[in-house]
Amino acid sequence: FTADRYKVERGPYANISKEHLSFFSELLGQNRMITNADECEGYNIDFAKIVRGKSSVVLKPKTTDEVSSILKYCNENRLAVCPQSGNTGLVGGSVPVFDEIVISMKLMNKIIETNELAGVLTCEAGCILEELDNHLATVNLMMPIDLGAKGSCLIGGCVSTNAGGIRLLRYGNLHGNVLGLEAVKANGEVVDCLNTLKKNNTGYHLKHLFIGSEGTLGIVTKVAIQCPPLPKAINVAFLGLNSFDKVLKAFRLAKNELGEILSSFEMMDRHSLDVSVSYFNLKSPLTTYKDGHDFYVLMETSGSNVSHDEEKLSSFVEKAMADDVIEDGTLTSDPAKVKNIWTLRERISEGILREGYVFKYDMSIPLPSFYSVIEVLKDRLRDPRVLRISGYGHLGDGNIHVQVSLPKYEPEIAAKLEPFIFEYICGLRGSVSAEHGIGFTKTKYLHMSRTSSEIKLMRQLKEMMDPNGILNPYKVLHPRNVSG
Ligand code: FAD
Ligand code: MLT
Ligand code: ZN
Repeated sequence: FTADRYKVERGPYANISKEHLSFFSELLGQNRMITNADECEGYNIDFAKIVRGKSSVVLKPKTTDEVSSILKYCNENRLAVCPQSGNTGLVGGSVPVFDEIVISMKLMNKIIETNELAGVLTCEAGCILEELDNHLATVNLMMPIDLGAKGSCLIGGCVSTNAGGIRLLRYGNLHGNVLGLEAVKANGEVVDCLNTLKKNNTGYHLKHLFIGSEGTLGIVTKVAIQCPPLPKAINVAFLGLNSFDKVLKAFRLAKNELGEILSSFEMMDRHSLDVSVSYFNLKSPLTTYKDGHDFYVLMETSGSNVSHDEEKLSSFVEKAMADDVIEDGTLTSDPAKVKNIWTLRERISEGILREGYVFKYDMSIPLPSFYSVIEVLKDRLRDPRVLRISGYGHLGDGNIHVQVSLPKYEPEIAAKLEPFIFEYICGLRGSVSAEHGIGFTKTKYLHMSRTSSEIKLMRQLKEMMDPNGILNPYKVLHPRNVSG
C-alpha cells in the first residue's frame, strides 16, 4: 500500500459516516455518488500504477454550485478530498493516498463560448483536451497545448498541473495561455477570475495560484484559454542520428533554419523508440531502422504555406545530411503519416508499462548535460533485474523523461535511484520536475528546485486558502508528519 511505502500518516480528518453520505446523495442523487468498491477502484489507482489509495466515495458534480456545496460541507466536517480529472497525472497527485473523497470533474464538460475573432475558448474544467481541439478545428483554431494523454486528460487537470507537452516550444505554457479561470476554494467560496482579455494588468493575477497548484489551493471549475489559429500547413521530419552531440547540432540548425515555424522538437533514444515499435507493432518510417540509430528526432513545423514550409524543411534536412549531422531522415505532410509518426512518440509512456514497474523521472536539464543522466544511470544500475534505462522528451524545452523499467518494484533499486537522481539533477542546475508536477511522489524533493523562502510562502498560501488542509492533502508540500 502506497502510504506504507512512502511512510505517510493519515492526517486528522473525519471518517466518512452514513450522515455524510446522505448529505452527498441528497445533493447529487445516487447516480453521481459512487460507493461501490469495484467502481471506486479505477479512481484509486493512477495511470502508471505507482500509487494506490483506498477511497470509498467518488462524487461527480455537474455545476460550480455543486462543487461549492461539496467543499463547504467537507471543510465544515473536516473531510479530506482529492480532485480528479482524467487521472493521467504521473506523480500520484490525482489519486487519494488514504480515504480522501474523490471529486471527479468528468461531468463538468460544457463548452461555454468560442470567440473566433479573439481566439478565446471558455469552457468547463471537465472538457477532454482532444475534444476541445476537435471543436476548435471547426472554427480554424486549436488548443495551445497538446500531449499524448489528450484523449483522456481534462483541461482542468492540465491547468492544475500546468502541463507542458509537445507544442510548448512554440505556444508557451498555460500560465501564459490561460486568460482566466473560475475556482472554488476549500471553504466553498467561488473565486471568479474568468477574465477573457489578453491584457488586463489590474491588481494581482490570481489565476496563477490555481495554475500548476495540483488541486491543493482550490478546484478549477471553468477556464478561458487563448487559442492560436489552426496552422494551414503541418510538416513533420523524423530523423535518425548516431550521437547525442548530433541531436544538439540538429536542434541548433533547426532553430536557425526554421525558427518561426518550428513547433516541436522531440528526441528519443533507441531504447525509447523500441518500446513503441515492439509493444504496439508499429513501424519506424526510416528504412534503415533494422540497423537502427542511437537517437531519433521528431520535428514538426506549423505554418501557413505548405510548399514554403516543405521547402524550408527539405533544405534543413539536406543541410543536416551534408554536414553529417543526421544519418537518415524522412519528411511528410500527409496527415495519416504525420499521425503515425507522432504515435511512435506518444505511446512510449503507455508501452513501457508493459515491462512491469517503471521508475519515471521528468527533469529539466541544461542541454549540454541533457543526456548524461542516462549514461550515469546505466553505469550505476548494473543489475540484471533492470530491463531498460531510456531517455526521451521535449528537447526543445530542455525537458527529458527518464524511464527505468523492471518486472516489479524493487526497494534496493529504488534506493539506488533516489535521492541520487534528484541530487544529480540539482548538481546540474536542473529541475526535479519539469512538467508533471510534484504530486505525491516528489514532495520530498521540492526543496531541491525551490528556495526555502519560496516554500515558506507556499505554506503560508496553503494555510490561508485551505486552513483545514482538506484539499489534496499529502501533495505538493511535504506533510510535516512524515519521516524522511
Ligand atoms: P489528473 O491526472 O486527474 O490530475 C492531475 C492533478 O491535478 C492532480 O493533482 C489533481 O488532484 C489535480 N486536479 C485535476 N483536476 C483538477 C481541477 N479541476 N481543479 C484542481 N485540481 C485538479 N504531462 C505533461 O505536462 N506533458 C506531457 O507531454 C504529458 N504527456 C503525457 C502522456 C501520457 C500518455 C500520460 C498518461 C500523461 C502525460 N502527461 C503529460 C501527464 C498528464 O497527462 C498531465 O499532467 C495532465 O495535465 C493531467 O490531466 P488530467 O486531466 O489527467 O488530470
Ligand atoms: C511524454 O512526454 O510522453 C510524457 O510527459 C509522458 C511521460 O513522461 O510518461
Ligand atoms: Zn512530456
